[in-house]
This record gives sequence, C-alpha cells and structure tokens, in this order.
Amino acid sequence: MTKILTIHRQSELENSLNELLRAYEARQVFVLCDDNSKTHCLPLIAGFSCLKEAQHLSIPAGDEHKNLATLATVWSVLSAKGGTRQSLLINLGGGMPSDLGGFAAACFKRGIDFINIPTTLLACVDAALGGKTGINFEGLKNEIGAFYPAKAVLIYPGFFNSLDRANLYSGYAEMLKHGLLSSYAHWKQVLSFDPSTASSQTSAELIMDSMSVKEKIVKEDPTEKGLRKALNLGHTIGHAFESLSHIQHKPLLHGHAVALGLVCELYLSHKLAGFPEPELNACVKRVKQAYSAYPLQRSDYPELIELMQHDKKNSDQHIRFCLLEDIGKILLDATASREQIEESLDYYRDNSSKH
Ligand code: GLY
Repeated sequence: MTKILTIHRQSELENSLNELLRAYEARQVFVLCDDNSKTHCLPLIAGFSCLKEAQHLSIPAGDEHKNLATLATVWSVLSAKGGTRQSLLINLGGGMPSDLGGFAAACFKRGIDFINIPTTLLACVDAALGGKTGINFEGLKNEIGAFYPAKAVLIYPGFFNSLDRANLYSGYAEMLKHGLLSSYAHWKQVLSFDPSTASSQTSAELIMDSMSVKEKIVKEDPTEKGLRKALNLGHTIGHAFESLSHIQHKPLLHGHAVALGLVCELYLSHKLAGFPEPELNACVKRVKQAYSAYPLQRSDYPELIELMQHDKKNSDQHIRFCLLEDIGKILLDATASREQIEESLDYYRDNSSKH
C-alpha cells in the first residue's frame, strides 16, 4: 500500500524525507528529475543529508520525451551506477517523470521500490497516486506500462509555488472531477477553491481530501476492471479535445481539456442519467470562470468523435463514458449515440463564450 505523507513547512521536508528513507539506509538512492523539476525543485532537497549519497538522473521535460529512448537512458544510468534490486528511485516532478520513472522502477531488476514527490498540482492529485506507470509508444499515449504503485507519495505544496496559473488550473480540473465523484460537501468545497492558493498551508487539507477520493477508488479496483473507470469522468471527450488541440496547433493543457470534457459529459449525464441541472450549471459556471474557451467549430465534430473512437478504453464500436446520476452516483460503461455526443458539443459551444 502506498503511504501518503503531507508536509506543510519547508523545515519539515528534510525530517519527513529522512523518515521515509530510513528503511532504505545503506541502499542506493536515485533521484529522477526532468529539466523543470531539476531547476525549480531539486535545489530544495538536494542538500538534505539523507540524499547526500544519492545519484541524480535527469531527463528532458515534456510528454514528447515520455518514450522508449528516455526510458532506456534511465535504465542505462541505473545500471551503470550499480543499481541493484534493493535500490530506491525517487521521482521528483510532474506526471511525466512519475509515469516514466515508475515504469523504469517496475522493470529494472524486475522491480525496485520508488517514491513519488509530485511537484505539480496535477501530479499530486492524479499521476503520483494509483500505480499507473508507463510511456507513450508509436504515437499512442501510455501504450506500454504497468500497474506498479509507489511505496510512498510525499506531498509538499510549497513546490507548487513554481507553477504558473495554467498549470495550477490544469490540476484543479482533476479536483473538480474528484468532487463530482464523491459527495456534495466535497464538491461544494472544490467549487469554491481558488487554485492560486494551492501552495498555502490552508489548501493542503482540501488537496489531501481530493487525493483520498482517488485513493479510495484505486484501493477498491487497482487495475481498472470496474470502479476505477470512474476516474475517466470527463476524459473520454477531454482526451479528444486535448488531441484535437494539438492537431490544430492550439494546445490545451491536460486539465484544461478535461474541464471542457467535464462540461460535455455532465451534459450527457443530465440528458441520459438525470444528473441535476443546478449542479450542471454550477460546473459550467466554474469552468467558464476558470478556463478560456476552445474555439470549437461544428466542422471539428467528425474528427473529435473519431478521436473518441480510438481511445483505448473503447474496445468495440461504442464510445464509452463514465456518467453520473448525481454527485457521487456513478454509472460506468454508459454509451451515447453520435447525435447525443454532438448535442453535448453544441452545449459546450453554447455555454463557453463569456458574454
Ligand atoms: N488517471 C486515472 C487513473 O489513475 O485511473
């Protein structure tokens, strides 16, 4: 089971890491960073006495480097520096280093322990937890990977100080999703959360609550045979938005695309499963405040629907969704017709302009 540890003050960071690494005394520790976390986050921990013998590995930042070539460089360094089955890998960074580093750990010497120290809000509430590790392959996202959970996830919201507004809001979309999947109380708290305060001590509790929503679901269904599919809420359409935005050279961050996907999928939830209109409206209002509109045209619909069909969660002709009957009332493997999906995209376009 993954141990989750939250640290509020920078002064506590060293002690907490020390505590975590005690079990790995006399073992070789490796710290994996990407270019971003190496610049902005590694300096905060590199001088800690528990890391003075640690070997550092650095990979280029960006999803385009989440590939076999980068993975091979990680294995090469682990091997060249004498890594053993008892070594520990610490992934310091956003979702990319934790996905790739986690997969490197899953395979090296048939599996070594690893710890995630997420430095983005998105990685904190999503990628760092739940054991999904992997890389992109032949143009397909997360095509190769393994379920291999971190031994521990260490949360220090102070790292979020280095994030810009767009990246803070990218993480916030997954918090909105967790709110929708849990309870009215948590949903209302998330709706009124200001992501620009994510690095403050007062936000840590809500961030932990958000992580707990995912943790509870993963505990029940670690390998996504059933309930874990709920974590795809907003993602069937969101992933298609994300891909389209890259094809059209107007790239959206992952969470921004998920927020737009949430609007469409809550509309489908309302139409097909009776999801309450006031909560749909509340979500639309928050998404409109928080994220810029994507200039979606009706002529984009065929490509967007094609992208949904290629999603690896869709094993047959049907496009599958997680829908909601109400906050926390989850409907897995729901399907919608092409017309209904187009209607949800019309709904997004009608409700995305600020005026
Ligand atoms: N990001 C969704 C999951 O971990 O299942």
